[in-house]
Amino acid sequence: MASYRITLLAGDGIGPEITAIAVKLLERVAQQFNFQLDFDHQPVGGDAIEKFGEPLPASTLAACKASDAVLLAAIGAPKYDNLPRQQRPESGLLALRAGLDLFANLRPVAIVPALIDASSLRPEVISGVDLLVVRELTGGIYFGQPKGRVQLENGEERGFNTMTYSSSEVDRIAKVAFDLARQRRGVLCSVDKANVLDVSQLWRDRVNEMAGAYPDVNLSHMYVDNAAMQLVRQPRQFDVLLTSNLFGDILSDEAAMLTGSIGMLPSASLGSSGPGLFEPVHGSAPDIAGQDLANPLAMVLSAAMMLRIGLKQDAAALALENAVSAVLEQGFRTGDLMADGCTKLACSAMGEELLRAL
Ligand code: NAI
Ligand code: MG
Repeated sequence: MASYRITLLAGDGIGPEITAIAVKLLERVAQQFNFQLDFDHQPVGGDAIEKFGEPLPASTLAACKASDAVLLAAIGAPKYDNLPRQQRPESGLLALRAGLDLFANLRPVAIVPALIDASSLRPEVISGVDLLVVRELTGGIYFGQPKGRVQLENGEERGFNTMTYSSSEVDRIAKVAFDLARQRRGVLCSVDKANVLDVSQLWRDRVNEMAGAYPDVNLSHMYVDNAAMQLVRQPRQFDVLLTSNLFGDILSDEAAMLTGSIGMLPSASLGSSGPGLFEPVHGSAPDIAGQDLANPLAMVLSAAMMLRIGLKQDAAALALENAVSAVLEQGFRTGDLMADGCTKLACSAMGEELLRAL
């Protein structure tokens, strides 16, 4: 029987609540599809600060590297807001992505038919939307040097970050996007700010150069401000969106609202070798943490991506996705997705319905 080692990073806020549900469902599908999952819980973020005094202990990174896949819920809490940046939970997550060299972040945004009424956008705008954001994850302004804050002689303080991309960094993420576009509808839109930023001009030049090797992919370019607008104006025009770290962060939260809630969006972060990391797009939702109110579906869909991409257990992945569709079609919703005529469920009760659907 195939057996896989999964590092579980429950993290902070709603993390533990949604992780508990994902684990139960994963254990059930493993049984149904005849493979074994060995879970190894490790601390990260605020959880690790409490236990180890740092947001990414070496033991957590080592466990992740030694596993077949990493499943992360979310990190972060307001109580750490005043810590120096390097000691904050978010630095642990950035260090984890960098430590595993997870440069490609895939964020699929597909409308679940049962949720057509849950979006703040009109049904005719969002129906049929099926797009994929490919976000560069280990470069750009989140990692560029120099950065920091300095006192100036005139008494002012200056804060600065640097947006950098090297040609090889652009090439490797562009290749992922072209390959995925080829497997989908063959339409790729690269999002940049090449009218203003030098780093974006380099980005655009490299993407154009790679297009020569993909004559079957229809490539276009869009400035990020226009892309933000087009995403809510006519989202069906997009198939694969290729973006840098910062732009992808912002555009994918925006795209989440097409589906009705940020609690619906899963993601996969992949490197060129080694285990992938699978996590919902949302954060630790401190405002609803510990109240059994969270939507666990983005976490469950992230577990499904882990099964499909990380473990090549396609049938089990599909079973999880079908369970999600089934509970939504039965009208079960967490508070973030509520609509007239639906049944409101707590996070844990949604977990029970998912198990029943499986
Ligand atoms: P957030 O995504 O945690 O929350 C934004 C809003 O969406 C909140 O109103 C929250 O209640 C709601 N929400 C998020 N996930 C939900 C779910 N599953 N079900 C129902 N409602 C949900 O983003 P925010 O508030 O900007 O950040 C909170 C903390 O999370 C911060 O410390 C931030 O740094 C961290 N964060 C962590 C991420 C990660 O672990 N990958 C990603 C984004 C933020
Ligand atoms: Mg974000």
